[in-house]
Amino acid sequence: MIVVKSRDGGQLLVDGYRVRVIEKLRLPPLWTRLEAIREAGWNTFLLKNEHVFLDMLTDSGVNAMTDEQLAAMISAQDSYAGSRTFYEFEKAVREVLGLEYVLPTHQGRGAEHVIAKVFIKPGSIVAANYHFTTTKAHFELQGAKLYELYISEAMDTTSSHPFKGNMDVEKLRDLVRRHGADKIAFVRMEATANLLGGQPFSLENLRAVREVCDEHGLLLVIDGSMIDWNAYLIKQREPGYRNKSIAEIVKEIASMADVYYASGRKAGCARGGFIATNNRELYEKMKVLLPVYEGFFTYGGMSIRELAALAVGIRDIVDEALIGSEVELIRCFVDELDRRGVPVVRPPGGLGCHLDAMRFLPHVPQSQYPAAALSSAIYIVSGIRSMERGTVSIDRDESGREVLSDLELVRLALPRRTYLKSHIDYAIDRITWLYEHRELIGGLEWVYEPPVLRFFMGRLRDTGNWGEELAKAYASELGEW
Ligand code: F0G
Repeated sequence: MIVVKSRDGGQLLVDGYRVRVIEKLRLPPLWTRLEAIREAGWNTFLLKNEHVFLDMLTDSGVNAMTDEQLAAMISAQDSYAGSRTFYEFEKAVREVLGLEYVLPTHQGRGAEHVIAKVFIKPGSIVAANYHFTTTKAHFELQGAKLYELYISEAMDTTSSHPFKGNMDVEKLRDLVRRHGADKIAFVRMEATANLLGGQPFSLENLRAVREVCDEHGLLLVIDGSMIDWNAYLIKQREPGYRNKSIAEIVKEIASMADVYYASGRKAGCARGGFIATNNRELYEKMKVLLPVYEGFFTYGGMSIRELAALAVGIRDIVDEALIGSEVELIRCFVDELDRRGVPVVRPPGGLGCHLDAMRFLPHVPQSQYPAAALSSAIYIVSGIRSMERGTVSIDRDESGREVLSDLELVRLALPRRTYLKSHIDYAIDRITWLYEHRELIGGLEWVYEPPVLRFFMGRLRDTGNWGEELAKAYASELGEW
């Protein structure tokens, strides 16, 4: 955002870009939407794009790119080994993050796979501020147990704690006391904790975590997939950072990491991922696995064009004019729904607006997946595709028992530089209508349940055919659109 003084003494935040290419949107009619969600097995991942009006599933791989990124894609130098484009990418990572050794991967989970293979042994422990789905899957497949050491406020969706992505440092000390440092493969901090509702950590907290790691010889791994939003929120909220540049904040975060990795599909606004470190020994250990799982170390499984786009995207993360628009839109989205009494995750963070499905649908038990039901209901009444982030997103344990999620959230993600204020106003109106008719929404049950990462391809159905009743009520009040 471009920040200037307004004439009344306040601040004006102005987006530092304009739109030069657009994609037309089509709103499918109500009955098409009902049919589409049935065909998709009440799983928004399985909707076809032609049936989606506003795609708020994710910010991953769908951010608007800059003209400079597109230009870089054209001039990228394609070669299996030694491409100039790789060295430009490496230079960008070195300059922006201050990290010397860089390994590209095909996307974030490729990085997680390599990290898991190198650092985790069966029986290892990983401590995290919170888990992410693919992260948890990779670490557990490698035999680790994941401990989530979030602060207590993180589970209270009404708490306005400014840094709900913080790690509880006392819990970390306690974990080391109970299990011993040798058992702990590494400590992982996720910048803008995704499944907590896009909540940031503070630099004060990250420093405290770093101190514990130093005391006990633990490795600190930082997932910087959404470092742009975390840095922007630190600048806005953390004492002492208002006058620091985003570039300084990003570098300070990265400087705490023994190993830094990211999905390039998020803050990087391209499609890929990478690992970076200043520790040569750790780098060499990971580098040998790269050709096995990802690709030669100068492309790492990415298309070289995307690597070129990511090199520019990494630099854009610290361009003050380009970042923060979504955080400002999310603030409008969350504050307005909150004002209308709709249960949202507070405070507004990064990534998107998150609804608290357990408070939205108190009559739907967690065993009937309230967040998944709410996500489908939102689609029926608006054509907006959101994502379930609750119990469906957690696989069963080894004995086949259901693991109930701490939080049942519906995420309405805002891809970078993609949606406008009128889209947010539309979403607010439809979600408010839905909240006023929430008693019409029921639960879901499985039709097909995959064994791993079931949320991607699982199919469900609405218990008691409530979808049809909801659509009828909508049609009678608001018509067929
Ligand atoms: N870490 C975080 C914090 C993420 O949000 C993601 C992906 C990954 C790692 C994995 O990266 O998709 O490139 O393999 N998040 C996407 C999302 C999928 O929709 O939030 P990936």
